[in-house]
Amino acid sequence: MLSALVTVIRSVMVAIMTVVTLIAPFTQQKEAKISHKKEGCRASFAAVSDTHLKNNFIRLGMFEFGLQDMAEAQDRLDAVIFNGDITDSGDTENWQAFSDTLKKYDISGNNIMVLGNHDTWGGDRTPAYTKETFIKFSKEATGREIDNVYFTAEINGYPVIALGSEGDSTDATISQEQIDWFASEMEKASGKGMPVFVLCHQPFNGTHNLPYNWELDKDDPPDKGGIGDASDAILAIVEKYKNVIFISGHIHAGLSTEDDGTSYSSVENHGSWYSVNLPCYEYPDVRRGGNITNGTGYVFEIYENEVILRARNFATGTWLEKYDVTIEIK
Ligand SMILES: [Fe+2]
Repeated sequence: MLSALVTVIRSVMVAIMTVVTLIAPFTQQKEAKISHKKEGCRASFAAVSDTHLKNNFIRLGMFEFGLQDMAEAQDRLDAVIFNGDITDSGDTENWQAFSDTLKKYDISGNNIMVLGNHDTWGGDRTPAYTKETFIKFSKEATGREIDNVYFTAEINGYPVIALGSEGDSTDATISQEQIDWFASEMEKASGKGMPVFVLCHQPFNGTHNLPYNWELDKDDPPDKGGIGDASDAILAIVEKYKNVIFISGHIHAGLSTEDDGTSYSSVENHGSWYSVNLPCYEYPDVRRGGNITNGTGYVFEIYENEVILRARNFATGTWLEKYDVTIEIK
């Protein structure tokens, strides 16, 4: 009885959020188009996660508001990262909807797709289907030719390493082969003396108030909501280097800082590396607090000595300065 009531309340809240977000772009004065915060920006990119697209006009509409905002940038973005759970089920129809919508907008010429757990649930849910479909739509939607679900990219010369699950579980299935590949790519990337951006849909186990922040269950095992079995091995590689910015999504949280009265922070400083957990673009879970509006993410601006993360609601075209974070490059 109680769970039925909770379901009804949550459905009503989602409905209200949807209406508010859909009308927001028409009622809210656009504060400012995307443009660099100051002189000397060497590269900038937008990053969003968990768009959960399918043939649904609300989800696609919300997505399109964001793309429109990115395409209208005064200072053209050098890349856009879609950090996993791009689709709701990984079926071809979902990917086609994403691809068709994305291709309507000229944003950057360097769009980067990362595989999320929902993206591995299409077709017969085999790694073979997922790999083939992801490779196909990476080419179709962004023009990027890749040969696996994990790959490297660059944003104006800044190295980007994307990890991807090789299974269909909620956590990430990362093979020893991928871990070895990651170790070797990190070694190459760090030699450039630049910040290195590591993309993975799932955050490291225990970060951003996991495992509790996954389902708000204090009895969850320590790896719940995180990368899972391979978390420690990947972390050990990341910890060897300076200026690593690890970008995840997956938790479906909003934007939050430690002084927000929530139990988590969207950006964590771990000394030599930072963990950035992107807010959920569509339907963040309202139970966690923070800024839980639809359409949010960050614009990353890279300068000589720092990376500025600028929180933005792309759907409404507004900056959310309260959640901005500056990462010093050492
Ligand atoms: Fe998701």
